[in-house]
Amino acid sequence: MGAIALAVGCNSSGDLLIDDFESGTFAQWKVEGDAFGDKPSTGAYAGQQPVSGFEGKYLANSFNNGDDSRGVLTSKDFTIERDYINFLVGGGTADDLYAELIVEGKSIYRSRSLFESETLQWMSWDVKQYRGKKAQIRIVDNQRGGWGHILIDQIEQGNKQKSLYMTDYTKEFNAEKKFLLLPIEDAAPEAKIQLIADGKPIGEPINVRLAQSKTNYWVPIPIEAYKGKKIGLKFAVVKSDDLFLKEIKQSDTYDFNYNEAFRPIYHFTPQYGWMNDPNGMVYLDGTYHLFYQYNPYGARWGNMHWGHAVSRDLVHYQYEPIALFPDKLGAIFSGSAVIDNDNTAGFGKGAMVAIFTSAGEKQQQSIAYSLDGGKTFTKYEHNPVLTDPKFIDFRDPKVFWHAPSKQWVLSLATTQTITFYGSKNLKEWTRLSEFGENIGDHGGVWECPDLFPLTYKGKTKWVLFVSINPGGPNGGSATQYFIGDFDGRTFTPDPLAYPLWIDYGRDNYAGVTWSNVPQSDGRRLFLGWMNNWDYANDIPPVNFRGAMTVARELTLADNGEHLVVANYPVKELTSLRRDTNSIGTKEANPSLEVTPLLAKNDGAYELEFTLKPDAETQNFNFTLENDKGEKLTFAFDVVNKTLSVDRSHSGAKFNDNFSQNAIKAPLTKKESYKIRLLVDVASTELFVNGGELVLTNTVFPSSPYNKLRFATDKGKVTAQNITVYNLK
Ligand code: FRU
Repeated sequence: MGAIALAVGCNSSGDLLIDDFESGTFAQWKVEGDAFGDKPSTGAYAGQQPVSGFEGKYLANSFNNGDDSRGVLTSKDFTIERDYINFLVGGGTADDLYAELIVEGKSIYRSRSLFESETLQWMSWDVKQYRGKKAQIRIVDNQRGGWGHILIDQIEQGNKQKSLYMTDYTKEFNAEKKFLLLPIEDAAPEAKIQLIADGKPIGEPINVRLAQSKTNYWVPIPIEAYKGKKIGLKFAVVKSDDLFLKEIKQSDTYDFNYNEAFRPIYHFTPQYGWMNDPNGMVYLDGTYHLFYQYNPYGARWGNMHWGHAVSRDLVHYQYEPIALFPDKLGAIFSGSAVIDNDNTAGFGKGAMVAIFTSAGEKQQQSIAYSLDGGKTFTKYEHNPVLTDPKFIDFRDPKVFWHAPSKQWVLSLATTQTITFYGSKNLKEWTRLSEFGENIGDHGGVWECPDLFPLTYKGKTKWVLFVSINPGGPNGGSATQYFIGDFDGRTFTPDPLAYPLWIDYGRDNYAGVTWSNVPQSDGRRLFLGWMNNWDYANDIPPVNFRGAMTVARELTLADNGEHLVVANYPVKELTSLRRDTNSIGTKEANPSLEVTPLLAKNDGAYELEFTLKPDAETQNFNFTLENDKGEKLTFAFDVVNKTLSVDRSHSGAKFNDNFSQNAIKAPLTKKESYKIRLLVDVASTELFVNGGELVLTNTVFPSSPYNKLRFATDKGKVTAQNITVYNLK
């Protein structure tokens, strides 16, 4: 077997040419297929954009016969005698186009152009550890269609790395500590990494915003299970001078409990990382489970897992280990959980069964079960259980047991409708009906449905929640609902003035209700993600992003004009009340200032009062303020029947979309308005008249609002029984 490496220069550290194609032939290669032609090209083929960046006259170009042609060049064996193999590469970026290094029969690197480009760039393989071994290079074009070609030139061995880019590069570690800490730069692009242990990939690749110029925060990869072993992080692409390569470190500790600015005191937030929708909300044996869309590798959306927390009182939550990890079918998107009391699925009596969207190339529904009360889950071996190639947006299954028709009913968001499916065993699903055409709001994609009964004056009505993004009443994401009847097959809406919104604020999305709440309790319990896709990835917290609303009880109520779904904090919340400041009844004529709200104000409190405008008053408002001049105003316009919230001067500015327009809600005219306002460092939840009208809005003030100001345009407004509670 003739080695084809030619020594250029006489010392052992000079470059060794493997091939530069300047012979004008493929004499050194075995040629298969027609993609590379029968000899090197002198530049572009007919129909190809100009090719540049190659050296000399010739290069290997697989555009012969166009993008659809396929072929392989395989080099003769050569011996690795230097630290690097450098070569020029261009063309497409598809997986089926690559230059491959094979050492002793094993594939070591597969690299392709980093960008779709006809300009070749240097690429380097670090081959130090293979010195002295026999190797081969294959240049593969197995790709048809646009950019289905590869360009290669000037393949040489040398002791200098010519490219700063490395693809499929593995950084190795001896696992000694509990965590591998990755430095994150919040605004950096995502890099793909695969954890490797014992030479095998562990889990799915993750996308991480690795620090390139500065580290904003760290995220941990648990590695304790591999102590004493060799582990590796394989990067799809790295630049050898990227900051993170130097910074990644092992540690026995990770500070999970950042006490950073904007961390709320009584709302649920992830320990660190990103959170969106609540998932799998289910009650079991005294415990309310809250799973949630979670990215443990950064504080922006990505790498969806199901995080997990439990609560015994709907007020205090305890973190649990991650419940569901991405798998071959994809990331774990939103879904629900039920308790299978009759063992219909055969996983075990009383199994907790999670039904979720596997979001890979397609969106499909999968299931997993837990026999230890939600601590650990096993995915069903025959996932997915529900697919439909017709839909791209096909997700967020919410399941309940419908006793009259003796079946599980699943509501699924199917682009801009909700499709209902029925099943006897949670594994086989049949389509029941589809709802939503020509009714409600259609300004965006429909997501996170929930169908459940509520009783009004002894009569059962069925309520369907549908989150929509964008298309909310004040822009971006919001949750609309329908009230009607359900017969086990079809949901029939009552004729109401749709769309109706569960919350007119900007920050209550993807909320659904807890399943399996005991009949003795009888409540329908709900919470939502306190954020809006319009700006969710940009909000100011650093190490974590996202909070849930407080748990709320849903009821049907008559707002004076029609039936509405009211939502109001669960009664358990009052257990957090500590110091009370009873300010009593005051008059704004035309204005009134109440300060301080609390002698010691840490930003977590609750305000109650009843506003009573007199006959002359048309516009009145109240404002929360801090000593930095940051403020949030709630304005009542009884003539135009509008309640609006202005957060344009509420605190940190981070995204134009946050406070461009006043946030508006329809107000029914009443004698008085009973106000309950929950404030928690970075959020406000306003409940008017027992939750008939709700507005949840985040705010990011630099210090707590500790002043309350009332004002009226004419006449006077009485604020009755003003009470402030510090919440802990
Ligand atoms: C809603 C949503 C869901 C999806 C999830 C992904 O906010 O878009 O439809 O399942 O987030 O994280």
